[in-house]
Amino acid sequence: MSTQPAPRNKVTVLTLQQKKRSGEPITMLTCYDYSSAVMLEQAGLDMLLVGDSLGMVVLGHENTLSVTMDDMLRHCKAVARGAKTPFLVGDMPFMSYQVDDKEAVRNAGRLLAEGGMDAVKLEGGMEYLTTVRAIVRAGIPVMGHIGLMPQSANQVGGFKVQGRTALAAKKLLDEALALQSAGCFAIVLEAVPSRVAELIADRLTIPTIGIGAGADTDGQVLVLHDMLGMFDRFTPRFVKQYAHLHQELQSALQNYIQEVRTHQFPSGDHSFTMKEEEWQALLDLLDSELQMGNEM
Ligand code: KIV
Repeated sequence: MSTQPAPRNKVTVLTLQQKKRSGEPITMLTCYDYSSAVMLEQAGLDMLLVGDSLGMVVLGHENTLSVTMDDMLRHCKAVARGAKTPFLVGDMPFMSYQVDDKEAVRNAGRLLAEGGMDAVKLEGGMEYLTTVRAIVRAGIPVMGHIGLMPQSANQVGGFKVQGRTALAAKKLLDEALALQSAGCFAIVLEAVPSRVAELIADRLTIPTIGIGAGADTDGQVLVLHDMLGMFDRFTPRFVKQYAHLHQELQSALQNYIQEVRTHQFPSGDHSFTMKEEEWQALLDLLDSELQMGNEM
């Protein structure tokens, strides 16, 4: 009996809309490289996000601000080579869409044309409606991202839950509705009280994908390294760790070090052989070279 899951059709914006209508939750994780993309595709994820969180969990920066278009393109290409069926979203990095709409459209286009993404995501509410419209007009699907927006964390005094007061929650709802009208096909809600996220999900016709936004959005997203327990600098409260790979990998690495030091690795199973006659011929060759050397 085969253990391979049945091949799936490519997930599109239509699949995502259908899931919103049927109430089947949309599954999304971040992904930054080829082998993870293969693994996440096999697991059956609906959407993969090449998030600018790569700046922190892959490139080791303090925050996401120093991620460049070149960084994004390199990682988008790797993910697109590995995952064919999930819907692929590439994050627009800091300063790739803030300066003007023309540059935003050009950079969004690069994430699709060169990076192999199906859509782009950008952080921002009312200030970015014209930008969203311009990118959508160019035929590029845009995912919005409101609530906690890491690229503007400095403006709000850090990584804080958003929409906790009635006025702030109303502002979030207005932003979500405006982004929907501007043409977004879906919206990420990050670090928002669950009941506010549920209200927004109910009022919108496009899918909402939550991260730290409770169980009632149309889908969920997490940073892969957080949920697998691979990023040990800190873990946000809203992350559930489904594995503790940092510890597990440490014990594999310690085994390797121990086996190399005690000559247990590599054993015969991991080494190559040579025919006895070739070995003897080599020894004879070396012998005769040595003798010639002595005679000179
Ligand atoms: O960059 C990222 O990983 C994200 C998710 C947190 C939604 O934007």
